[in-house]
Amino acid sequence: MVQVAVLGAAGGIGQPLSLLLKLNKDIDVLNLYDLVRCPGVAVDISHINTNSKVNAFQGAAQLAECLTGCDIVVIPAGVPRKPGMTRDDLFNVNAGIVRDLVQGVAENCPKAQVCIISNPVNSTVPIAAEVLKKNGVYDPKKLFGVTTLDLVRTSRFAHELRPDFDANTFIPVIGGHSGPTIVPIYSRVNKQLQLSEQELKDITQRVQYGGDEVVKAKDGEGSATLSMAYAGYRFVASLLDARHGRPTTECCYIDLAVDPSGAQCYRSLGAQDLSYFSVLASFDKDGIHNILPLDNLTPFEQELVKVAVPALASNVEAGVSFINK
Ligand code: NAI
Repeated sequence: MVQVAVLGAAGGIGQPLSLLLKLNKDIDVLNLYDLVRCPGVAVDISHINTNSKVNAFQGAAQLAECLTGCDIVVIPAGVPRKPGMTRDDLFNVNAGIVRDLVQGVAENCPKAQVCIISNPVNSTVPIAAEVLKKNGVYDPKKLFGVTTLDLVRTSRFAHELRPDFDANTFIPVIGGHSGPTIVPIYSRVNKQLQLSEQELKDITQRVQYGGDEVVKAKDGEGSATLSMAYAGYRFVASLLDARHGRPTTECCYIDLAVDPSGAQCYRSLGAQDLSYFSVLASFDKDGIHNILPLDNLTPFEQELVKVAVPALASNVEAGVSFINK
């Protein structure tokens, strides 16, 4: 019996993500929560002919009931970017939303795995961790910042450059989830891609700012929703695979305390003092099993990590002090 909740289920990401989750046969109960539009979205999705049950919950008074008994909670609630905004510009609104929703998790399903999509992920994950710590229920194995869209873009953009390259190839992305903190590790596949120095610089820049392409094209109507729903779904499906004993690896933004020896390889890149970082990890039924090393990064990739580290440190500090101020 697996119960999954989507918080922010009626939004641009929430709706297609909930649709995809309805198709997954590993889910028995799908609880959809939002402040608005939720009953309509839930009844609509509930007519899809898979066996899972869909329930609607609307408004803060129903959050506890939505979360009770959940195994996995996915959080895409919050405001998206408009043209000219960075993810950090969303902090003031989304920090409070994530804090309050994760407080609900702490009180009603403290053992659930929590997937944070709401931006800025670099800060909202530390916010979630601090809330769980304050409630005495923090388990770093079960808290993930969803960075999968960066991996999706990394392999897709490589295919656009080299059409023979399979767009579904796994290419790790480490660091964080905003502009210069996103570090795609193309060296893992460069034997196939044979990127020139300039191509590598250009495609890395495109991955780092891929979200801006969507924000610009939507022209004030928000940021990535459909590709993000796909990416969020892929991540949750990986967690479900791991629950069922199917071996899984993914990259996500986590508390490095979960596996200090596995984290060493990332810390040695210049991130000695960082507490959160996006890493390659393996999963088991409880969440993160261990952090997998990524050795032999190229000097170009090492330089990208060096640039990412100070930005990440200040994003983490902003999140931690938001809760503890
Ligand atoms: P949206 O505005 O279309 O939907 C957000 C939904 O959250 C709305 O339905 C709204 O009613 C709901 N909401 C707001 N406050 C809430 C609360 N306290 N409780 C429950 N629901 C609440 O926004 P969209 O496009 O779905 O984006 C959502 C978030 O995802 C944004 O923060 C965005 O920046 C982030 N995002 C993250 C990505 C990633 O790679 N991790 C990629 C793209 C977007």
